[in-house]
Amino acid sequence: MKYVHGYDPIENVRLQDQATTLVDLLHSDTRYPPKSWILEAGCGVGAQTITLAKNSPDAQITSVDISKTSVEEARKKINQAGFTNVVFRQGDIFNLPFAAESFDHIFVCFVLEHLKQPTEALICLKKLLKTGGTITVIEGDHGSAYFYPYSIAARKAIQCQVALQKRAGGNTNIGRKLYPLLNKAEFTDVTVSPRMVYVDSSKPEFVEGFTKNTFTAMIKGVRKPATESGLIDEKTFDEGIKALYRTTEPDGVFCYTFFKAVATKQ
Ligand SMILES: C[S@@+](CC[C@H](N)C(=O)[O-])C[C@H]1O[C@@H](n2cnc3c(N)ncnc32)[C@H](O)[C@@H]1O
Repeated sequence: MKYVHGYDPIENVRLQDQATTLVDLLHSDTRYPPKSWILEAGCGVGAQTITLAKNSPDAQITSVDISKTSVEEARKKINQAGFTNVVFRQGDIFNLPFAAESFDHIFVCFVLEHLKQPTEALICLKKLLKTGGTITVIEGDHGSAYFYPYSIAARKAIQCQVALQKRAGGNTNIGRKLYPLLNKAEFTDVTVSPRMVYVDSSKPEFVEGFTKNTFTAMIKGVRKPATESGLIDEKTFDEGIKALYRTTEPDGVFCYTFFKAVATKQ
C-alpha cells in the first residue's frame, strides 16, 4: 500500500498535533470497561493510543500497525508516558495473528481512508470481535472543509490531496460513507455522529493546532507529488496554501467535520 502521507518525522508531528487538538472532540465518549480487551487497528505512531490508554486505564489494549517503524515509535511513546496497559504488534489488518472473537471492542481512526478495500477491512476486523462487541471508527471528510475568505486556489490545493489519495486507492471523503460501509460489513446498530471543528480567531489553540498544524500542514505535505505529477502548478499550489493560512487571521474562519461511528457485532 502506498500511504499518501508517508512516514516522515514532519508527518508524525502533524499526526500528534492533530490528535492532541482533537482529543475532546473525538475521544470524550470512548471509555472501555476494566479488563476488557481492546484492539486498536492502524495505531500509527500512537497519537490516539495515548488517549485510549489514559481514558481506559484498566482495559487491555493491543495496538497494531502495518509499519514496523511506526509501531516502534508508538511503543516508545507509550512507555515514556508510563502506560502499562498497551501491547504493540506489527500486523496487517487483513491478516492479523489473533484468534476469532479475541476482542471486546475495536478502535480504528484515520485508517479506512487509506485502504482500497475498506469494507473487507471491516469484515476482517469483525471476525476478531466478540459477539456483542463494538467497533468505533473515526474518519475525516475533505468535502466538509469550508472557510472564509473563500479561495479557489485553496480549493484546488485541497483537491490535489483528494486526487492523490484516490490514485493510491484511498478516499479522503470517506467520513460520509461510514454508515453504508459498516452496514455493508454487516455490523448492527450503526450510529454515526458528525464532529465539526469550527475555528475562528477566538479559539487560538484550534487556529494553531487544527487549521495551521493539522489541516494546512497536511495539504502542504503533498506539494511535491501534486506539482510533480502535474495536478497543479507550483504558483497555484502556493497561493492555495497562503489562502489557507489567511483563514487563520483575525477575521478568518475554518470548518471541518469528522465522522465517528459506533457499531455492534450481533
Ligand atoms: C493516518 S495514519 C493514522 C494513525 C493513527 N490511527 C492516528 O489516528 O494517528 C494511518 C495508519 O494506518 C496504517 N495502515 C494502513 N494500512 C494498514 C493495514 N493494512 N494494516 C494495518 N495498518 C495499516 C498506516 O501504516 C498508518 O500508520
